[in-house]
Amino acid sequence: MKVAVGCDHGGFVLKEKIIETLNKLGAEVVDFGTNSSESVDYPVFAEKVAHAVADKVCDLGVLLCGTGIGMSIVANKVKGIRAAVLSDVFSAKATRQHNDSNILCLGGRVVTPEDAAKLLTIWYTAEFEGGRHQKRVDMISDIENRNL
Ligand code: RB5
Repeated sequence: MKVAVGCDHGGFVLKEKIIETLNKLGAEVVDFGTNSSESVDYPVFAEKVAHAVADKVCDLGVLLCGTGIGMSIVANKVKGIRAAVLSDVFSAKATRQHNDSNILCLGGRVVTPEDAAKLLTIWYTAEFEGGRHQKRVDMISDIENRNL
């Protein structure tokens, strides 16, 4: 799996642990920055990662900011993206199984690097269940086609 990773200054604290965890999981990481804790604008990084996933340059994405929320708002503006902000293990599994989420968003001011690694591992290893959930994901695509 090829995974796009992006962050702003608020998520930079998590990036090293996220990349280390992805490497352990056998993923190929494409790092879209930022590369320091200097203040930057999260929409820039979210759009780059969202396009890498939507254009199928990467299979999945991980976006990190202070809360994960700004990144998710931006990423979900790109057609084909289903970005989920996570801070609990139940949702980490469920959003892959049910929503087929393709971008994970985490907050550097919300979760510790250790919890981020745990959430990422659960999210990355869970599988989409299809069936009735496929119908609902198709409905999301229809809504995108009508509105984006
Ligand atoms: C940056 O201060 C902060 O607004 C950003 O990291 C993020 O939390 C936005 O949602």
